[in-house]
Amino acid sequence: MLLLTKVVKLNLLDSRRKFLKLFGGTALVGLSPVQLACTPNYNKDALNKPLVIATWNNYKANEAAWEVLQNGGSALDAVEAGARIPEADPNDQSVGYGGLPDREGNVSLDACIMDHLGNAGSVCYLKNIKHPISVARKVMEETPHVILAGDGALAFALEQGFEKENLLSDQAKEKWLDWLKEKNYRPEGNRDQHDTIGILAIDQKGNLAGACTTSGMAYKMQGRVGDSPIIGAGMFVDNEVGAAAATGVGEKVLTTLGSFLVVELMRQGKSPQEACEEAVSRIHRKLKSEENIQVGYVALDKNGRFGAHSIQKGFEYTLFKPETKTKFAASFIQ
Ligand code: GLY
Repeated sequence: MLLLTKVVKLNLLDSRRKFLKLFGGTALVGLSPVQLACTPNYNKDALNKPLVIATWNNYKANEAAWEVLQNGGSALDAVEAGARIPEADPNDQSVGYGGLPDREGNVSLDACIMDHLGNAGSVCYLKNIKHPISVARKVMEETPHVILAGDGALAFALEQGFEKENLLSDQAKEKWLDWLKEKNYRPEGNRDQHDTIGILAIDQKGNLAGACTTSGMAYKMQGRVGDSPIIGAGMFVDNEVGAAAATGVGEKVLTTLGSFLVVELMRQGKSPQEACEEAVSRIHRKLKSEENIQVGYVALDKNGRFGAHSIQKGFEYTLFKPETKTKFAASFIQ
């Protein structure tokens, strides 16, 4: 048995030597053939770091995240701090407090967070808690689970010390009452109707993290859960490769597992921009002519290179890196 193990080990070593010879270079020593095949060649000292990128004009969210990154804090702390800004903003009607409700007038929130070790936490259909992103982080850190939903998520949040509050602002209530007159549901997902925040960061150590938080599609059916709390759909982080986040009509992102797709495309060698373009076009190619849908992605790789793309005009992203702090219009198809 011992002999057999030795023979197998020697054979493996032999194929590894052949592999290294084939691909040359002493720089490759130390990495197994499997790692070499799957991990793009990233610079250990990321070109752009620290860096934070967020969907839409989330300047204040980036400021909060930047404060953490600049002081040497982790990407995880940065994205949580950033996501909490629109969650508390009554004027942001797509995230947290002030978010537009479902058809019955309930504000129900979805959020997820992921760190550089591949740990993730998520809450969906969470009501009456202003900061779902922080509850998601608690799910990640304090439970053996990844996702908690509905009443269970609420009970857990209360147990963790979060306060129960009314999230339906007067402004959102007024819009909902107006919507009830015609009850016309238009899942389009663009600036005025929907702007989920997805926020990705790389910290001074070169580690990545991401967060995504939303009140979901305005006037959705009660109980509807979108892409935002689903790891790999609304957001995904792989510290070997990069991170991605989505905004727009969640059903389209869910059925293509969009953020995971963007990261995997980067793993295969595409730049963050090319990866976003391919993921958007996979959705676009299948759209029916009557569908007027917006979906946008932001992506960040391990070198601190970034990209963003959307189906329609109007999608913006906000980027902070040492020499740039501004929002940009993303490229688009239509
Ligand atoms: N993208 C967020 C949602 O559809 O709920």
